[in-house]
Parts: sequence; C-alpha cells; structure tokens
Amino acid sequence: MQGHLSLDVVAGADDRRHALCNDVRAGLSGHPKQIPPAWFYDEAGSLLFEEITRLPEYYPTRAERSILACRATDIASAARADTLVEIGSGTSEKTRLLLDAMAAAGTLERIVVFDISRDVLVDAGKGLAGRYNVDVHAVVGDFCHHLASVPRGGRRLWAFLGGTIGNLLPLERAELLAAFRTQMEPGDHLLLGTDLVKDEDRLVAAYDDAAGVTAEFNRNVLAVLNRELGASFDPSLFDHRALWNAREAWIEMHLRSRLAHKVVVADLDLTVCLEEGEEILTEISAKFTAEQVSDELVAAGFVPLDTWRDANGDFQLTLAAPSVLPRRMGQ
Ligand code: AVJ
Repeated sequence: MQGHLSLDVVAGADDRRHALCNDVRAGLSGHPKQIPPAWFYDEAGSLLFEEITRLPEYYPTRAERSILACRATDIASAARADTLVEIGSGTSEKTRLLLDAMAAAGTLERIVVFDISRDVLVDAGKGLAGRYNVDVHAVVGDFCHHLASVPRGGRRLWAFLGGTIGNLLPLERAELLAAFRTQMEPGDHLLLGTDLVKDEDRLVAAYDDAAGVTAEFNRNVLAVLNRELGASFDPSLFDHRALWNAREAWIEMHLRSRLAHKVVVADLDLTVCLEEGEEILTEISAKFTAEQVSDELVAAGFVPLDTWRDANGDFQLTLAAPSVLPRRMGQ
C-alpha cells in the first residue's frame, strides 16, 4: 500500500534565482557583508548539514530527536491532529517519530511537507507516501512568503523543528510566527523547536567542530554563488569563524577573508572588494530561554500549552494553539 504524493511548486526555479540575485546584490554591495543562510542548502550543503547533525559537538538534532522519541505520543494526543504539516521539512527524518505516534493513535489522515529545496522534498515525500498509507502534499516554497499555500482543512499540527526559527532576526521571527497564526484555524496546533541558551563553550563548539565540517558547510555557500551566479570566489581564501554574541543571544557564523582581494559576480555585473580580515555574515542561530519562547508566541497570538525538554535541558519543544481572542496592535 502506498499513499498518493502530490507536488505543488509555489516557488519555482525562476523565483529562487530572482531571490538569490537580490540577496547577493544587497548583501555583498555594502558593509557589513552578508549572505542569508537559506543559500547553504544546495545538494552538497544539504549533505554537509546531515553530516553536521551526526557530529559529537552538534547536540541540537540529537536532543530534539530524544524529546520526540520520549514524547511523540504525548504531543500527538494533545494535538489530536489528522494532518501533520512540516515546515522546512528537509529529509523529514525526525518527523517520522511524530507520524508514527499519530498513526498509532489512529488519527493520521494526511501529511504536508513544505520546503524550499524541491529535490530533497520530493525524496522525502516519496519516502513518507511509501511508509504511511495517506496522501502526502509536498509544497515547494519559502516559508517566509508562501505559508498561504499550505492546504486547508482538517485538524492540523504545524511542526517547525530543528531550531530553524533561530536563523531569523527577532523582527523576522515575529513576522513568521504571526504568519503561522494567520494561516492557522481553530483546532490547529503549532509545535516549535528551539535551541536553548547554554554554556558558551558548548555553543561555539557546536558551530566550530574539530573535524571542520561546519567550516566546509560555511564555505560551501561560496561554491553555490560560483555555480549559480558565475562568481569567482576561492573558498580557500576564507576562514570559518563562529562566535557567541551574548548581547543578542545568538551564534554568528562568518567567512573571513584572509587577504584583500576582489571577487567578480559575473551574472550580477558586480565586483566585490574585500579587505584583509573582512567578514561576511552567513548565519545567525539564536538561542532562547523558555520565557522568551513563551513571550514571542504570546505576542504572535498563540497560547503556549506545553513544553518538553531533553534530559540535558539543551533543547525545547513547545506546543501552542492559536489564541481565540483577536490580536490587538502592539500586543
Ligand atoms: C538547521 C538552521 C537549525 O542553526 O543550528 C548547523 C544550521 N548551521 N550548523 C542551526 C546550522 C551551522 C542549523 N539549523
């Protein structure tokens, strides 16, 4: 038996290219330079991220998986959902724990997976349709713009896992949570994964591993720009740097130019001048306190219902429901 897989491409190749051009032009023209983390995840970058999740220093994936392994049944029975909507689903590896619990409870009727990477999504969708005998809707889109394309109906559990919300700036986070709230209907729930503030040494080690996989992941974005935009980056001229910004409570990843040099981005007709030691910001990964997660959810119109953490207290899942009261400005 096999469920039916349908594919809805909201953001096609042209939209992606347009977004990449805009991001790179805006991010590399001025100071400080930056490239948004979304562009890490081409095929090589996605494989490198998979490798990161298995590193001894990178605890978030294991921590989140251990919470789901212990608590998926509790989460499923609290949400009583017939539809799992996974946003930024990637390979959907951890999601299977939730799906198994929903299937065991007899409520699972439909799966929606939503991701920017079409190839990863189609593979994941096929795997899910083969394993669960339910319809699988795969939506290729950008979760900052296309949440309205998530199919409606049923009682949906929206899962936004992995701590991906931490890659957004506080204002973008507020906008994204508000966009979730706008799309959600009574009976729906949100399951949010957030990495928690902890010892600086462990945080930095998780983003600057001894084997150098994160460094390679970071530099891979330059290879993406070379291939997609005809850029002339030499990745070996850049050092990987990960630091803890205590004031903002986020990890920053940078690529630091070892020497002054120029890079041409042919497709943009852009010449980028880098000074010796100049850094390109490639990612922030915010870490939260439990109170902050709750405050941000409430501010976006949610009621936090329950939280779960792993045994080390490293990572948190929060289940929330849309609040019934209408939101007021500034609330
Ligand atoms: C997949 C976005 C959650 O921020 O920890 C891992 C990405 N970057 N190592 C994170 C990442 C460097 C990861 N997220």
